[in-house]
Amino acid sequence: MTTPPPPAPSTSLGSPPPPPTGAPGQAPNLVPPPPTNALVSVQRVSKWFGDVVAVSDVSFHLGPGVTALLGPNGAGKSTMLRMIAGLTPPSRGTIEVLGGNPRTNADVRGRVGLVSQQEQLFAEQRAVEFVTLAGILSGLDDPVDAARQALSAVDLDPDDTRSISTYSKGMRQRVKVAQALIHQPALLLLDEPLTGLDPRQRLAMTTLIQQLGAAGTCVIVSSHVLEEVERLGSNVLVIAQGRLAAQGDFHAIRALMDHRPHRIRVRTTDARVLAAALLTYGGIHGVEVVDEQVLLVDTNDVALFRKRIAPTARYTQTPLFEVQPLDDDLESVFKYLVGR
Ligand SMILES: Nc1ncnc2c1ncn2[C@@H]1O[C@H](COP(=O)(O)OP(=O)(O)OP(=O)(O)O)[C@@H](O)[C@H]1O
Ligand SMILES: [Mg+2]
Repeated sequence: MTTPPPPAPSTSLGSPPPPPTGAPGQAPNLVPPPPTNALVSVQRVSKWFGDVVAVSDVSFHLGPGVTALLGPNGAGKSTMLRMIAGLTPPSRGTIEVLGGNPRTNADVRGRVGLVSQQEQLFAEQRAVEFVTLAGILSGLDDPVDAARQALSAVDLDPDDTRSISTYSKGMRQRVKVAQALIHQPALLLLDEPLTGLDPRQRLAMTTLIQQLGAAGTCVIVSSHVLEEVERLGSNVLVIAQGRLAAQGDFHAIRALMDHRPHRIRVRTTDARVLAAALLTYGGIHGVEVVDEQVLLVDTNDVALFRKRIAPTARYTQTPLFEVQPLDDDLESVFKYLVGR
């Protein structure tokens, strides 16, 4: 087994929005052809449900290793993963997985594992029995042994005599992953696999994902939590409002987010005096004086602002009552990335 090459340390712009639903024909294909080692090729894919555009003209190509699909609720992550798994067709565009069409090629489908986001209803069954069934359906020679190995890989006891229905959410999540892993898929799709896990379980799952990626499996993990993605240390696709908003390694994405414009609300004794002083150093885009005590500062260098604000206030004898970032939530980060 070889270790996959590190992801390219670059970011790129997302794709433009799709033509309106029902527009005749497809726009000329400006997307470069997929690299020859791509395991997943998504080319100009859109998916709509009635009037709702869930995925909008998205293109990317993935090789071996871990890729995180990061985006807020409703961004189109599950729809994207379901299309890659061949469960639902794109409305427009093409998807190639392991060299074939996941909708029509049974060999390809047999080499893909999917852990869906939905809570699964389990019968009164032991985990090993449940996972063995997946092994039988995959046509494995020794499905019981494969099930035991898959359960051990996700840190569950293959000899556990309890029914899965008594398991915690985190344990059930791991049963689902064991089921998806049993046939050692070349492509593993995990839809929010860390949700519902406690910190220890999350660490174990993150380690497993990293190991699979390092061993050459193409793993796509969806998440709406930046910190989860940070721990995976992976290649990242940022998806928001159905569009690919950014793509690159985690550090590049983090830098992009950190250097976006920030708006900070400052309350002091004399807003005008402090505003004038703040404008004299770099890193500030603008200052808006709201009233005698309140000013709004726009900066794309928060670190520099944090360093300078206290000394500036001291120097101008305008004591600070409040320094409050107004747009530090993930939603506004995504909004910024989409709007670039
Ligand atoms: N089967 C469906 N029928 C109608 N609309 C759908 C269907 N599936 C998804 N959508 C819509 O498509 C959009 C994208 O949904 P999707 O579930 O892919 O997002 P997501 O990124 O997985 O969100 P979440 O973080 O909540 O899981 C949403 O507006 C959703 O309501
Ligand atoms: Mg989802």
